[in-house]
Amino acid sequence: MQNKFLPEIHIAAEQGWINDPNGLIKFKGRYHAFYQSYPADTFWGPMIWGHAVSDDLTHWEILPNALYPDRKYDRDGCFSGSAIEWNGSLYLMYTGHSLNGGGSAVRQVQCLAKSDDGVSFSKLGVVISEDDLPDDYVPEDFRDPKVWRENGKFYAIIAARKRHGRGRLLVYSSDDLMKWTFEFDVFGRDCAGIMLECPDYKPELGVLIYSEQFAPMDGSRHLNIHTTRYVLGKLDYKNKRFSGSDCGHICDYGFDFYAPQTFLDENLMIGWMDMWDRNHPSYIYGFAGMLTVPRRIEIVGGRMMQTPAIVTQAGVAKKIKSTLSDKMITGMFTVSAKNLRSLDLKMRCGGDCFTSLKLVGGEWVFDRSNSGAEIRMHEKDPDSVRGIRRMPFGSGYETQLTVVMDKYSVEIFENGRVLTSTIYPPDGADGLELNLDADECVYTRYDISPAK
Ligand code: FRU
Repeated sequence: MQNKFLPEIHIAAEQGWINDPNGLIKFKGRYHAFYQSYPADTFWGPMIWGHAVSDDLTHWEILPNALYPDRKYDRDGCFSGSAIEWNGSLYLMYTGHSLNGGGSAVRQVQCLAKSDDGVSFSKLGVVISEDDLPDDYVPEDFRDPKVWRENGKFYAIIAARKRHGRGRLLVYSSDDLMKWTFEFDVFGRDCAGIMLECPDYKPELGVLIYSEQFAPMDGSRHLNIHTTRYVLGKLDYKNKRFSGSDCGHICDYGFDFYAPQTFLDENLMIGWMDMWDRNHPSYIYGFAGMLTVPRRIEIVGGRMMQTPAIVTQAGVAKKIKSTLSDKMITGMFTVSAKNLRSLDLKMRCGGDCFTSLKLVGGEWVFDRSNSGAEIRMHEKDPDSVRGIRRMPFGSGYETQLTVVMDKYSVEIFENGRVLTSTIYPPDGADGLELNLDADECVYTRYDISPAK
């Protein structure tokens, strides 16, 4: 029986824990999303690959789990990875994790599994092992292969680390997905984070995305202890380096966004809508962890622009002067305004609780300090302690603010930027209050269409 507490348009486990999205691909006409899952409890454990499919990127059907940690090389977890279609079959490339007593005895190897129907998978074994690592890179931190095809070859980018060093990214190539050759270290130097995770590269867009653990704080731009960045440029296979700007942009300004992955050959991205080192108040409903809605991504003017890629019913538009009240728990709304001078939005109001977004001093200020159940975090900077996250305001003459809401989350989009956060309001808190000062303003409400 379906857990009635689950979010409606976000992937979450029927029961237990989930983290990173894995293996995002359109295969035989349907969107497939796999994800890191531990169904036995609401905390992380030996990872299984959960599996969901969708026709509309909005309603997801859960299929049987795809991969279990049942081989010597993956016995302590089938860690993150990606998917590719070749000759009509679906291949999953993932990291096999084995503890072997822990510390430097941990082994992370890259493995392959294959399916002809996109539902049941057979394992083909280890395809990149510690023997394929260049000298001085450690076999215990070597994970999260993202695979793609370019110029008739397969490539994979994998997170790694040098002995006594910090996060690195390595590129491998192959003709048949089974035999891989090391090509180069992408940046050729340590990154700021102690380890990088879940790299993703889109050759058509010229963007490289990666998540960083414990990168030092960077003013008010990077406040989560683990964060996701993107850099613009191309992998230069001939000169064996990354050619572009290696100045990382923040991917999402909210509290809860990590380890995103793009769909192979589609400009769509999904992230884990949560964060390491936090509590997960939804454990009382039997689950922890959700994925974001799919976002369409494009590169415009040197920036990644994201917009929600969900399907809704036709919008119901209302002109407003300065105030509006509505009710919404799951759905989407937009606020289109000319010359927006100020905005004060309260969402999920109920009892004494609300979640707010304000336009203050030329930036968006999001506040979840009064949202509902407490989310405890390790971040100690003043904004984090006060439940605040900020995002630059697009500041053009015309503003289009888009908010996607579900039972435990808000995803706020404006001018291509996005701020994603979980919230855990009291049951039934559905009030929405908007106050603003602008020359002209239209509020449009989009309800989610029922699942077919
Ligand atoms: C990122 C990550 C990956 C790893 C997976 C394990 O969130 O730590 O590096 O493969 O989660 O579940």
